[in-house]
Amino acid sequence: MKENTKITLLLIVLFAITTYNTIAQNKTEINIHYPEKETEISPNIYGQFIEYLRNSITGGIFEEGSSLSDPNGFRKDVLEKMKELNTPVLRYPGGTVTKTYHWEDGIGPRSERPARRNLIWGGVEDNHFGTDEYIKYCSEIGAEPSIVVNMGSGTAEEAANWVEYCNGTGNTYYANLRRKNGSEEPYNVKYWSLGNEEAAWEDAGRLSDPAKYAEEAWYFAKLMKLTDPSIKFFVVADPFKKEWNDVVLESLSPITDYISVHWYIGTIEGEPWSIYNQVDRFENSLVELGAYLEQYPAKVEDFSKWYRFPPREDAIKISIDEWGIWEGNCGGQYNLDCDYTWRHALATASFLNVFHRQSANVTMANWAQSVNILGAILANKQGSIEQTVFYPLQYFRKYLGTSLLDVESTGIPTLADDKTISALDISSTLNESSNEVCVFIVNRSKDAIETKLNIEGVNTSEGKLIQLTALDENAYNVIGEKDIVNISEETIKLKKGLEVAPLSINILVVKKD
Ligand code: AHR
Repeated sequence: MKENTKITLLLIVLFAITTYNTIAQNKTEINIHYPEKETEISPNIYGQFIEYLRNSITGGIFEEGSSLSDPNGFRKDVLEKMKELNTPVLRYPGGTVTKTYHWEDGIGPRSERPARRNLIWGGVEDNHFGTDEYIKYCSEIGAEPSIVVNMGSGTAEEAANWVEYCNGTGNTYYANLRRKNGSEEPYNVKYWSLGNEEAAWEDAGRLSDPAKYAEEAWYFAKLMKLTDPSIKFFVVADPFKKEWNDVVLESLSPITDYISVHWYIGTIEGEPWSIYNQVDRFENSLVELGAYLEQYPAKVEDFSKWYRFPPREDAIKISIDEWGIWEGNCGGQYNLDCDYTWRHALATASFLNVFHRQSANVTMANWAQSVNILGAILANKQGSIEQTVFYPLQYFRKYLGTSLLDVESTGIPTLADDKTISALDISSTLNESSNEVCVFIVNRSKDAIETKLNIEGVNTSEGKLIQLTALDENAYNVIGEKDIVNISEETIKLKKGLEVAPLSINILVVKKD
């Protein structure tokens, strides 16, 4: 055989092997469809949370006298990062601290505000960041305020006065106090939580009997609604305590707009992949909770006019008021000082996919917390940095569509360490104004996965792929050091399918025809 013929034969054999391999790898197929019933996705699932808890607020977003701060005392570097998150909601002032927080300590001239011991988390709060600063901060980052009232040591009247201070338009004491403190216009705070984790005996005690909570919450709600009937309520629920939910909703279902659920996950020691099991478990609970809420009709009938305020207008939705990753070995008091690894970022992206998929019931969710304490951002006196988990929050939010698409997949491999965990986690949305379909794919495995991708109604051969990767699952960011996350953006050919890089977060954006 001539040398040339040999080479040609060799090439043919090589081509055949390569083609065979591609077909074998391409057995993973992702199909995106338009659902029979449209489900809107609320951008409010990208909320954030701040609390008077060590350096979450003071020393986090707020640091008077620092060369890194603006004249308000807002840390400019942190503010920039908060703006990049583009969060639509900022929940405040806690958290557990609300059980002893009195909002009037945080208004008026800063020098005259009382410093108080933080009975829940320790340390002293000078109260220099109070309601007016919070509202200003919300407007700087373009977020809606969401306030939690004190149902521990606080009173219903105090809560109603807070509503008047924020929303009052008449010639009344608290509305005038707001004017005196510099804001002629009302703040129009729409979202109000009736307490925080009141089912937790260790924290609260006082209202951990659901009947007691329901009775108090009704009274708080009444005075607050009489002050401003347009406000929306969140009542405390617990996905693990059906008896609690039954009692609370028996009484409060006509007036609450949301049930508030908190969900933190962590890793089982020695089984790093277990974090993904926990995300799956969370999704199952949300499905159950959504089904549970169906017993409460969207429209409230028989609401006595003598309550003197209207009932809720829509079906009760779920708000994951606090969610995030809280490991038993995070360090610091109560393990609140977490260095989030790239694995945590992959889990965060999977969490966000859950919110997308469950958006029929979940219409608000707040990452807890924003800075330092379980924070997406770390800040010290010298500077600040995005933690790994910051990036999925930022990029998923940026490309989130307006409605949910169905994802159907076949042949997805499982993780080598746990055959119950799917290597890929996927959601998809349609942006009706830009006419773009987005596919959010998290590859939690150490292998690249070749996929065939079919998107209904899309014949375009090109797409934009935003890919987030890191070299090591256990790597994390440190202030003053190089960011470990690589972010790339490229135009890719779709006809070849999509190769999903190992340990990666991917957002594929394609124009609908
Ligand atoms: O985010 C820290 C704490 O976690 C909050 O104060 C509380 O609501 C939750 O248990």
